[in-house]
Amino acid sequence: MGKYTFAMIKPDAVESGKWGLIINDIIAAGFTILGAKMKRMSLTEAKAFYAVHSERGFFCELVDFMSSGPSILLALEKTDAVQSWRDTIGATDPAEAKSGTIRAKYAENKGRNAVHGSDSDENAQKEIAFFFSEAELILNR
Ligand code: RTP
Ligand code: MG
Repeated sequence: MGKYTFAMIKPDAVESGKWGLIINDIIAAGFTILGAKMKRMSLTEAKAFYAVHSERGFFCELVDFMSSGPSILLALEKTDAVQSWRDTIGATDPAEAKSGTIRAKYAENKGRNAVHGSDSDENAQKEIAFFFSEAELILNR
């Protein structure tokens, strides 16, 4: 199990101003933020980032939403980071997310669900590299 994961605060939670509360939850859950930036993804970038879902019925809705406004991109460190972050955010659909999780607290619905989390160590590494250069990360402290 790896130390790193990639997280995003999605456009719904940036626009609503809930992102500050989410950053607090990230720190309270024991994650170290190694890199952070705000960025509005282009449609092309959103399609590339979520390419694994390109055949799914919700793909157009997903990439339109993800390029609709700025997201906050975060490289996070913690023991067993991928699983720990997924436990912290809860199920994809906030109606199914455990109470106290970020999606239960802040997500509007399954599409506009406040946050993203990597699903494996391999994808965490790829996703961090998709958005951050090494010089932008606080490493080797
Ligand atoms: P994410 O990748 O964003 O962390 O979410 P996840 O692993 O919990 O869920 P995933 O299956 O990877 O789906 C990616 C994102 O697509 C949107 N989605 N919409 N309308 C729908 O049925 C539907 N299903 C998925 C969600 O925004 C989900 O987070
Ligand atoms: Mg996913």
